[in-house]
Order: sequence, then C-alpha cells, then structure tokens
Amino acid sequence: MQRRDFNEYKKNLGNKAAEFVKSGMVIGLGTGSTVYYFVEALGKKVAKEKLDIVGITTSNKTKEHASSLNIPLKSLDEVDSIDLTIDGADEVSNDFHGIKGGGGALLFEKLVASNSKKTVWIIEDSKRVKALGKYPLPVEVVKYGSEKLFQKLEKRGYKPTWRLTDSGNNFLTDDDNYIIDLHLRRISSPHEFSRELIGLVGVVEHGLFLDTVDTVIVGSKGEIEIID
Ligand code: 5RP
Repeated sequence: MQRRDFNEYKKNLGNKAAEFVKSGMVIGLGTGSTVYYFVEALGKKVAKEKLDIVGITTSNKTKEHASSLNIPLKSLDEVDSIDLTIDGADEVSNDFHGIKGGGGALLFEKLVASNSKKTVWIIEDSKRVKALGKYPLPVEVVKYGSEKLFQKLEKRGYKPTWRLTDSGNNFLTDDDNYIIDLHLRRISSPHEFSRELIGLVGVVEHGLFLDTVDTVIVGSKGEIEIID
C-alpha cells in the first residue's frame, strides 16, 4: 500500500470513529497516526455541531493536537469515568487482545482505557493476527536499575532492545521512563506473560492490552468493517 492510500484509510477510520461520539460524552483520546485523523474529525465535529464533550488525552502529543482544535480537555482525575475511548493498536488478535505502545504512550493509554466504559480501536487490516507477538512488545520501565532489568529479560530469552530516538538516546515516555521492546515472535499465553512482566520490579507497564477492547473498526482497501 502506498503512503497516500495509507493516509486515506486512516482518515476514513478517523471519520468513522468520530460518528461514535455524542454530545455529553467524556471521550478518551488515544495516540498515534490513525488517532490523529480521529482527533481531526472530532475537532471539526465539535466546532460544527457545537458538541458538548470533554476529551481525556493519552499523551502530550494528542493533548497538543486536541488543544489546537479547541477540543475541551480535562485530566483523568478530574472526571468520574470515560464514556468512550478511541485509540489505535499495533496488533489485534482474533480473540480481541492487542499490543499497543508503538508510539510509546502505553501507560497513559492503559490508564485511560481501564477507566473507560467502552473502548474502540481503529486499525488497518494488516494489524489483525491469529496470535500476538510478531510486533515487538513494549515494556515501560523506570530508569533506575533498568540495565539490570534488561539483562534479566535477555536471560529469559525475550530478545530485548532499548527503544531509542533518532539521535540514539533512550526514548523517554511522557512519564519520563524508558521503553524496552521484546522481540518474541509469538506470545502463546498473553495473560500469563502479562502477570510475569508486571511482577518484575522496575516494570511500570507493558503493551499487552488484554480484555480491553469492545469494538474494532478495521480499514482495508477503502472498506470499513466494524467488529464487536
Ligand atoms: C501508541 C499506540 C498506537 O495506538 C499504536 O502504536 C498505533 O499507532 P498508529 O495508528 O500510528 O499505527 O499504541 O502508543
């Protein structure tokens, strides 16, 4: 698929997701290049239809974008709960589990999703998989002792790599942590693996989003499929 087509399907997905938003809702705003188009569509909808909504962002990037479009925002702790969260994903299995965090926003994305009554992911068809794991699994870790944690993950055979910026420095999350990506190929027991990772001291969060999503909107070749 060419970049132009790619952006086209992302735009279609963003527009479709914006149709789910109704006045009076508290909306979780995910992160990523697909969500970018959702935020664009939402900004237009808020301006045109004078929608009374509040957005809860999952990253500084989305916060800046949504603010620039005059979408009213609050922080997670300022609302009772979130009616609907729209986010992207890096991989989604047939049984509706996912890997997220390709953009490094996994911690806030999981916090927002876990306080949402409904979560919708917008993805391109190629992200659907039988089993999770081909996409590197991000693990957000505190800086202190992170080298030791890296070695532990290496010893367990999880093929870790540091997430780096283009200039070769450690990527820093919005919460000022590092990310270690695990190159696993296949995660056969995601719930078990999730418990193992969270049990490691120094791990803040990981990108396995299990039992999180209610609806997946899939875009492929100009068509959109809604799966729930
Ligand atoms: C960011 C995420 C994104 O939702 C995920 O990486 C998908 O992004 P994109 O829509 O750009 O492919 O989890 O942390």
